[in-house]
Amino acid sequence: SQRTLVLLKPDAVRRGLIGEIIGRFEKKAGWTIRALELRELDRPLLEQHYAEHVGRPFYEPLVEFMSSGPSVALVVEGERVIEGVRALAGPTDPIAATPGSIRGDFGTIVRENLIHASDSEESAERELKIFFPDFS
Ligand code: GTP
Ligand code: MG
Repeated sequence: SQRTLVLLKPDAVRRGLIGEIIGRFEKKAGWTIRALELRELDRPLLEQHYAEHVGRPFYEPLVEFMSSGPSVALVVEGERVIEGVRALAGPTDPIAATPGSIRGDFGTIVRENLIHASDSEESAERELKIFFPDFS
């Protein structure tokens, strides 16, 4: 099975959606939460995490937003969980996301799109090391 790195972004935490979102992962048969932490993400960590977006017009506001309050970082494990959490989240732009998805149900703003989830096995491996270096 796979592991993926999930972040409930500062908007999700501020709006009291932690339980709502985590509940959706818990209800998926065969998926398990393996690590969970409420944490302020500092700039050096975010620069590593979003290295692929450095220089894009949305990069600075994204880092500002992501450091505007605590996030929840989780490791979720299970069958095809990388693809599966991305499907539960919906597309990056919440307006394009179908109702029933996390972004589709709760979001309107591209930047404040509630959740991050690793987009491939390579990203998951890289991001898990950044956020949970001591997790085997
Ligand atoms: P993450 O799971 O957070 O990585 O989202 P994603 O994989 O759906 O999107 P991507 O990695 O392409 O972009 C990272 C984050 O930057 C997104 O989740 C948005 O919050 C933000 N972002 C991406 N594209 C845009 C954009 O065109 N405009 C703005 N304002 N923000 C963007
Ligand atoms: Mg991404």
